[in-house]
Amino acid sequence: MRRGLSSGALLLALALAAGLNGVPAKYAEYARWEVVADKGLPAGGPHAGQPKVVYANPVAAREWKGGKALPLGSIVVKTTGPAGAPALVAVMEKRAEGWYYEEYLPEGGKYVLKFGGPGKQQLCVGCHTGAKAKDYLFTRP
Ligand code: HEC
Repeated sequence: MRRGLSSGALLLALALAAGLNGVPAKYAEYARWEVVADKGLPAGGPHAGQPKVVYANPVAAREWKGGKALPLGSIVVKTTGPAGAPALVAVMEKRAEGWYYEEYLPEGGKYVLKFGGPGKQQLCVGCHTGAKAKDYLFTRP
């Protein structure tokens, strides 16, 4: 596992966050977080596009390898495509009622919530239940 943070990375992260117009700020800051998975992810699959990177916010990163359910406030973001202009931003946030899912795609110069979101969790949950033993996270060890 490597840290995503250096002063250069921080500047890049700020630029990225500014460039991810349409993605809520608390998710768009993912580039400052720890990369918890990037090697060996399947090329195709449900979130197509390369490369894939999975980031965990500090709360989630701390418990990522522990095998326990991740704490409330955990946010995990998966991107595909170029780091500076991802082709997809998929988000999981641990809320009191369980994991909340959103997926943003670029459209007309901004990012648009296309899948998941309020009342539309079933698409995501249906598949992520396959990783229930790892708190619904496929890429967790
Ligand atoms: C058809 C199955 C499937 C569906 C539907 C699906 N996912 Fe995933 N998701 C995966 C798989 C498999 C991975 C592991 C990484 C990979 O192979 O891309 C993953 C990885 C993720 C990750 C990284 C954390 C992890 O589980 O490792 C996030 C975040 C994520 N998905 C969000 C979503 C959101 C948001 C939706 C709904 C809009 C969604 N997913 C729908 C299969 C699915």
